[in-house]
Amino acid sequence: MHQFILSIVLCISAVVSRRAVAEMATCSGIVTMRYRYDKISITDFGGVGDGKTLNTKAFRAAIYRIHHLKRSSGTLLYIPPGVYLTESFNLTSHMTLYLARDAVIKATQDTWNWPLVDPLPSYGRGRERPGKRYMSFIMGDGVQDVVITGENGTIDGQGDIWWNMWTQRTLQYTRPHLIEFMNSKQIIISNIIFKNSPYWNIHPVYCSDVVIRYVTILAPRNSPNTDGIDPDSSSNVCIEDSHISTGDDLIAIKSGWDEYGITYGRPSSEITIRRVTGSSPFAGIAIGSETSGGVKNVLAEHISLFNMGVGIHLKTDVGRGGIIRNLTFYVVYIENAEKGIKIAGDTGDHPDNNFNPNAIPVVQDIAMKNIWGIKVQQPGLIKGIKDAPFTGICLSNINLYGARGLRTTPWECSDVKGSALKVSPWPCSELVGNYNTGSCSSPFWA
Ligand SMILES: *[C@@H]1O[C@H](CO)[C@@H](O)[C@H](O)[C@H]1NC(C)=O
Ligand SMILES: *[C@@H]1O[C@H](CO)[C@@H](O)[C@H](O)[C@H]1NC(C)=O
Ligand SMILES: *[C@@H]1O[C@H](CO)[C@@H](O)[C@H](O)[C@H]1NC(C)=O
Repeated sequence: MHQFILSIVLCISAVVSRRAVAEMATCSGIVTMRYRYDKISITDFGGVGDGKTLNTKAFRAAIYRIHHLKRSSGTLLYIPPGVYLTESFNLTSHMTLYLARDAVIKATQDTWNWPLVDPLPSYGRGRERPGKRYMSFIMGDGVQDVVITGENGTIDGQGDIWWNMWTQRTLQYTRPHLIEFMNSKQIIISNIIFKNSPYWNIHPVYCSDVVIRYVTILAPRNSPNTDGIDPDSSSNVCIEDSHISTGDDLIAIKSGWDEYGITYGRPSSEITIRRVTGSSPFAGIAIGSETSGGVKNVLAEHISLFNMGVGIHLKTDVGRGGIIRNLTFYVVYIENAEKGIKIAGDTGDHPDNNFNPNAIPVVQDIAMKNIWGIKVQQPGLIKGIKDAPFTGICLSNINLYGARGLRTTPWECSDVKGSALKVSPWPCSELVGNYNTGSCSSPFWA
């Protein structure tokens, strides 16, 4: 009898695990990771990992060597255990930056000496200060086939000096990202810890074929604008199996700012985010607010969020323009948040006064399915744009509850059309209950 039960249990678990394996989607295969036969170490170029010696020349010389002595399968640059202090540097194509366990690449705090680069055309200016912007600590401009990986070594931005400048309003230019890839393709970032970025942590902009997995991104909860990963005017981006806890949005998909982003016209599309956990006083998964080039075909699934401002946040405004379409959020757990879901068409924040008041953003075909949360003060807030409502909003199987004994605010909606099925607490009358004829049956997520 016991054996019989045991064999049934084994049989069921075998079926379950086989199914789990079959369904376990990953980013593998999107970018080919090439084996690098040529390997060099930063120590071959005078690198010293004592935490004091400045290694800028070593990094620049090693990467210069990779760039000029082109090896057919590319070159791996090995960073052994130790703390390598350096100024910012540029990567080149066909290279792997490999951080050993206990290797730390640490940014200097020489803010007065920090190089500047041009503002992004899709932003028209620096994001936080007009004019140029500080170059990212690690930068890849127009590169391809670049891997940043290793044994969970650390890239440390030492951002506190920049956060203080922001707080004291003494910033002259927009702060540097920890890593930026621009006009680049075939990028893999994996098994790295990112710490204390001056500004956004990882910023792929005008890129395609980007994989980010097994990363940990950490910055204090009160550090200003330390977004985790911001895919910006980029396509075919896959982010998975990562933990992000920072002072701003964990992942924010963007595509340019008002009239500059509209003119540049490069959307973010085909973006997959899965198995990401984290916490933040702002959003877990955000779209925007800079979405002037449009955002389409996004899937975010199996996301777990703790101690949040907002779980899922779509943000745009009049003047932004851009079409936000076909986004799916599937299996999201939210614990302790001010808001579970927020979709807002009144975010504000314009680059200048030349934005076009007739550039009305479109928000359409947004599916949220199997969203569950506790200690959520307000389950949802959807605020569309007057005379240009957000349409095709599909809410299905959503349970967002408050804490026991805590007063919660009900759903609020305006200028929105869509459907809701099995949503508790019940959302708004604007979202009619007819699932089959409503927006939940749209072919976009059939
Ligand atoms: C690094 O790349 C930026 C952006 O392309 C460029 O402005 C800068 O001159 C480069 N710096 C070095 C040291 O090559
Ligand atoms: C690095 O960290 C990831 C989690 O982000 C973990 O899955 C992986 O096993 C770690 N790798 C090593 C070599 O320790
Ligand atoms: C909608 O986005 C998903 C990715 O989440 C994609 O697979 C699908 O093809 C898109 N649908 C359309 C109609 O573009």
